[in-house]
Amino acid sequence: MSFEEVKKTVTEIYERVKLESLEERDNLINILHAIQEHYGNYIPLEAAEVLKELTGKSLSEIYEVLTFYTMFSTRRRGKYIIRVCKSLPCHVTGGAAVIEALKNGLGIDYGQTTEDGLFTLEESSCLGLCGVSPVMLINDEAYGNLTPEKVFQIIEEIRERERSDVK
Ligand code: FES
Repeated sequence: MSFEEVKKTVTEIYERVKLESLEERDNLINILHAIQEHYGNYIPLEAAEVLKELTGKSLSEIYEVLTFYTMFSTRRRGKYIIRVCKSLPCHVTGGAAVIEALKNGLGIDYGQTTEDGLFTLEESSCLGLCGVSPVMLINDEAYGNLTPEKVFQIIEEIRERERSDVK
């Protein structure tokens, strides 16, 4: 992916999002969201350079927003971001076995992405769903009362869905 390609894409997104939102910092956040969505869960670093030109902001201002919010990533991530809770209530209800199942089922560790580009595994503190612990989020969807078996089943269902979408 060349800088020119990123520039063209980011400029289009900037023009579209800029017209739709009003407040300045929110505006930048909205643009970053749209860029991340476009690239499939990450923001190429070149995008910051392009935004600097478009917005007149300094690179450090843009990086500040980019790195302050954990929802943004400049690291290439999978189509499905799995955030598994590792806080105590989830831990004592079987969280450790769930985390092991995720790592084994995906063949990756925290912070890594599967080779097919489908899944990225991240650890999280309490997701606010302790009543149904252990818990994980896949993108915005919550999965509770997890067991290792459920984890394997959920991963397999997503893989199956992706396979049939490709056909
Ligand atoms: Fe896991 Fe609260 S401790 S969701």
